[in-house]
Amino acid sequence: MPLVSMRQLLDEAAKGGYGVGAFNVNDMEQIQAIMAAAKETNSPVIIQASRGARSFAQDRFLFHLILAAAELYPEIPIAMHQDHGNSFETCKSAIDLGYTSVMMDGSLKEDGKTPASFEENVAVTKRVVDFAHERGVTVEGEIGVLGGVEDGHGAGGTGLEHVTDPDQAVEFAEKTGVDALAIAIGTSHGAYKFTKKPDGSVLKMDVLIAIHKRLPNTHLVMHGSSSVPKDLQDIINKYGGKLKETWGVPVEEIQLGIRNGVRKVNVDTDNRLAMTGAIRKVLWETPEKFDPRDYLKPAREAMQKVVAQRMTQFGQAGHAGDYKAVSIAEIAKGYKNGSLSTRPLVAAK
Ligand code: G3H
Ligand code: 13P
Ligand code: ZN
Repeated sequence: MPLVSMRQLLDEAAKGGYGVGAFNVNDMEQIQAIMAAAKETNSPVIIQASRGARSFAQDRFLFHLILAAAELYPEIPIAMHQDHGNSFETCKSAIDLGYTSVMMDGSLKEDGKTPASFEENVAVTKRVVDFAHERGVTVEGEIGVLGGVEDGHGAGGTGLEHVTDPDQAVEFAEKTGVDALAIAIGTSHGAYKFTKKPDGSVLKMDVLIAIHKRLPNTHLVMHGSSSVPKDLQDIINKYGGKLKETWGVPVEEIQLGIRNGVRKVNVDTDNRLAMTGAIRKVLWETPEKFDPRDYLKPAREAMQKVVAQRMTQFGQAGHAGDYKAVSIAEIAKGYKNGSLSTRPLVAAK
């Protein structure tokens, strides 16, 4: 199957009432792990690359690896997404390359650290929407600011400093016409999200539910959704690692989100933990080994296991064959003639 529009993939997820994992990639083994998991569970999938990933792997390497995935797995719908674009230029460069979806993270200024004003966020996101939709490309925006910092990106903090205001979410969706809306409900990027098991007082699920009530047809996105499982932490620490005790987002909270409009669930850290644990184990137990395949193969298998588990938990498993790809040119026509709406349905308070 050619790469599909993320809008199509999320519209289908909404029809089916399930969420879709968006998994970050930096290299071939991670792409292979995701595709093996998608085949194993018969799932549509979103593969996403951060700015850091694009520069680490080099743009064309990464993009062609994903095209290889689309060639090798014609039965799996794959959306290729720019994660946390920091400017119009970053999003444009992804679109020019052939990505079928971009995130314009205008919640932060271009430095990727300083919270932006609402007006700045609306202006840059709307500019990306106009450019992207003309070309049939999906846009995710963000309102509210997540916590944590990864690879220099992020405002820091606990994630509770800039929780999304539902009224602002409505205004933002109306003014920008985004296809998907990332909201801040107390999650943060990376392994160190919570110092105790989060409950309703830490994760603002009530805010998520309030936003979904006001914007019942808008595809919501949960960032920072790794669960940081204890068993993966333990493997790393058993084989020489030094992770401090930490908690991630419980899968049941994500499932509650999915029942309340969350359609895209971003996961990176859990896969990083799985791969690193597997590599550490091989190097620790068999220090005489030096063939990278001896540790990259178990690393790839460990990531496949986590991704397959998430695909099942998010509900996307079994849905790969539900639909055929609509071409990106057709999607562009849909935005132009209004059959793909960019005006959110807004419910009264
Ligand atoms: O949003 C963060 C993702 O986990 C990607 O992180 O910027 O370190 O590649 P990165
Ligand atoms: P985690 O760090 O929780 O995996 O979040 C990933 C993410 O939100 C990527 O945009
Ligand atoms: Zn994120």
